[in-house]
Order: sequence, then C-alpha cells, then structure tokens
Amino acid sequence: MKQYILALDQGTTSSRAILFDHDGSLCGSAQHEFAQHFPVPGRVEHDASDIWTSQLACARQVLREAGVSAAQVAAIGIANQRETTVLWDRKSGEAVAPAIVWQDRRTADACERLRADGHAALVQQATGLELDAYFSATKLAWLLDNVAGARERACRGELAFGTVDSWLAFKLTGRHVTDVSNASRTMLFNIHDVAWDERLLTLFNVPPEVLPQVVSSSEVVGHTHADLFGSPVTVSGIAGDQQAATFGQACHSQGMVKNTYGTGCFMLMHAGAQAVASHNRLLATVGWRVGGATDYLLEGSVFMGGATVQWLRDGLGIIEKSCDVEELALSVPDNGGVYLVPAFAGLGAPHWDPYARGTLIGMTRGSGRGHVARAALEAIAYQSAELLMAMQKDAAIPVTEVRADGGAARNDLLMQFQADLLGVPVVRPKVTETTALGAAWLAGLAIGFWESREEVAAQWQAEKQFEPLMREDRRRELMATWARAVERSRGWAPS
Ligand code: G3P
Repeated sequence: MKQYILALDQGTTSSRAILFDHDGSLCGSAQHEFAQHFPVPGRVEHDASDIWTSQLACARQVLREAGVSAAQVAAIGIANQRETTVLWDRKSGEAVAPAIVWQDRRTADACERLRADGHAALVQQATGLELDAYFSATKLAWLLDNVAGARERACRGELAFGTVDSWLAFKLTGRHVTDVSNASRTMLFNIHDVAWDERLLTLFNVPPEVLPQVVSSSEVVGHTHADLFGSPVTVSGIAGDQQAATFGQACHSQGMVKNTYGTGCFMLMHAGAQAVASHNRLLATVGWRVGGATDYLLEGSVFMGGATVQWLRDGLGIIEKSCDVEELALSVPDNGGVYLVPAFAGLGAPHWDPYARGTLIGMTRGSGRGHVARAALEAIAYQSAELLMAMQKDAAIPVTEVRADGGAARNDLLMQFQADLLGVPVVRPKVTETTALGAAWLAGLAIGFWESREEVAAQWQAEKQFEPLMREDRRRELMATWARAVERSRGWAPS
C-alpha cells in the first residue's frame, strides 16, 4: 500500500492541503479560501473556526480526490501563517474571540509606549525581533485585557493561547503544543535558551498558564482524533510557513537563502547553529529544531510584493489579470526613469517606517502604463535586493544564489531583473510548493519515512536558473536611484 505525507499549509487567505509521495512528488492538492474581517481600519481578524473547518475540509478533499485512505497517510505536517493569535477555551475547544491576524495594527501604540520606556533592547536580545505589533505578545495581552473575564480565566488555567499551528494541532490531536519556529514569533520566547522567557511574560503581562508546550519541528506530537479521517493519523511536523519554505527549498546550511514572492516578500537566510543578531534591522528567528539541533535564520520581509501587481489590477485597472503584467512591462524597453515605491502600508525591513507612503516618481510626458507596470515589477526586485544587501552585512558567509518561490516567482522578467540586481543567480525549483514540501519533509523525517536531511535535500531540483547579466556599475547606479526614490516616500503620513 503506497504511503504518503499530507502537508497542511494554513495561510493568511486560504487553507491548503497537499499530498506528497516518497519521491517528494506532488500527488494532489486542495485549497479553500476563507473570510477576512476588517472590523475597523487597522484591524484584521479571522474566525478561528473558519481556519479549522477550511483546513479540515481541504485535507479531506485531497485524500478523497487522490483516492488515498487515512491508513496510507504516514504522517501529517503543518505549516502555518505565523504570529496570528488565537485564545480558546480548553474545555469547549472554542475560541473566545476572533483571532488577531499578524497584519493587525491595533497594538501599535502599546508597542510604541514599550519602546519609549526602553524595552526594545531586551526584546531584541532575547527574541531576535523588533518590538512591533506584528508579533503575538501584544495581541495576546490585548485579548486578555479586552475579552470579558479572559484574564481571570487564563490565570485559572481555563484558556489556551496559541498561534495557528497550535490551534490546528489542538483540533487535530487534543494536545496544546507549538513548535520552536512558531514560538520564536510570539515575542515571548527566548531563542537562545529555546524556552519561554519569564522577563517577557512579565513585560507583556502574560500568565504562563495560557502557554503551549514547546516541541521540536520534527517529532510525533500526537494522533488525529479517529473521527476526523476515518482512522488516526500521526502528526509529526510543525513549522511556521516561512521557515517551512526555507526547509523545503533545502536551505539547510549556513548562507543559503530563499525568497518567497507572495503578497509580500519573505527572504530568509540560514544563519547557522547560533542566532545572529542583526545590525541592519532584520529579524533573527528560529528556523527549525530537528533531532535535538536548532538552526537559526535571518529574516527580512517587505509588505508589498505580489500585492503591488494586484494594485495595478484593482487600484489602477491597467491590467485585467495579474499575469498580464509581464506583457505590459515588456511593451517598453525599460522603466523610462519611472520608479514606484509601494509603501502603501509603510515600509518593512530594513527601513521599518510605518509613515512611508506609496510614491510614483520620475514621470515625463513620455511615461505610460508600460513604464508603471515595469516600475511595479522592478519595485519587488529592488525591495528584495535591499533585504539581501542587509543580510550580507549581517552574515559571515557570502551568498552564492537565491532560491525563489511564490506566485510572482513564475514571472521570468522579474526573476531576471532580480538576478541582475542581486549579482547572484536566482534559482526557481521544480516543486514550487516549498512551504508544504518543507512541512512534509519535517513530518516524514520524524517517523523515518525519510532517513536524513541529505535524502530529502537530494529531492530538490532546479527548474530554471537566472544568471546575473548586469554590470556592477550599472547595478550600483540603479540601487542608488532606488534609494533616492525610497527617501522621497519616507515620513509622508502624519504620525
Ligand atoms: O509572518 C506572516 C507569514 O507567515 C504569512 O504568510 O503566506 O500566510 O501570507 P502567508
């Protein structure tokens, strides 16, 4: 009876389930979108039960469509949107409030106050993170303070906190756990000691009774309730989606880098067996813990990646479908001096400027839609290049290639320009479902479905490699012009 690994990829806008066989080949997938809630500007919520039901529905669907029984699933691996905060009743198994999504800014002022009081250094030293509303700690404190009776109930041990991995693991197996990579995004976890940090629990006023038990990214955490899939299935892999993608891109040794071109762009570099403190406003984070060893990553993210192309479609209406952008951008030989800084929601790493705003600059009477499309695509590459430059300053080892995935990685024009700007090859793998693949590998390694990291890494294959063709002086000139455009976008919104 052929055996498979089932990967659950619970993302911000949809839940997905993907089936892999022993060769690492994709044998089926299903995807369900679920509702996004924006109750007031700056707030983003999910119904935690939507997360669970959509995830369960696509897991069942992929098995049904592939004709695979639960007995043929050797293990389940979970990859998930990170930082999103769920608080639930241990007894009823129901969330006590909507989940607060990682994009939610309701605790920005609380973070600002903590920064003004001088707590950013402790947070950065212990967690590797910027003291920012992006992470779970202040979201959890907000729930404890604003849901009637929550703090008292939490202190009595009646409530459970978790990021989405934790929520799914609880629903699947009944255990209250989280893996190290997800824990490292809560701003409550000491990445050096690999344990919850009491100083941070005090700082953010979080009672230890709500916390999940921290497990490694590749170990048996439990078995699914028999009624979910017909018979119990082992759950043995958990990682945050960006860490899972890094693992699935086989970036298993120091200096290897992947960039995911999704709504935003997430670039992660393997930093080795010790956390590297960033001096360039990147995040140090846990990659995964496998077989008792913890690997660390450096991470930089930009908020507007593929979303910049969506803006061309939905905001400007100059393309009908996102994939039309390549043709429109190719209708002109170059950007004609036009630059778009898509700081629609401020700027992420390495600038971290919440007051920056979108800027289109350099237009002349000859500028047209093609130039704007070109500038939008190039902006994705410029922002990613800034991340890599910051990483190279922080890291000890020079980068020799960047592995690309995510929807916009299908765009050859973007990939070529990216390689030109980075000065290193950009490589697109055959299996672009790297997040799911990473979660599958983590789950399969825990149960001996695969023997070693070397075995899984050998499954990784390049589909296309984009070589840098631009001259160094030209690259420098372009990056300098981009930097001027970024300068114009900064500090625009009223503080
Ligand atoms: O940190 C947020 C990240 O994990 C979200 O990823 O793919 O769900 O947008 P995604």
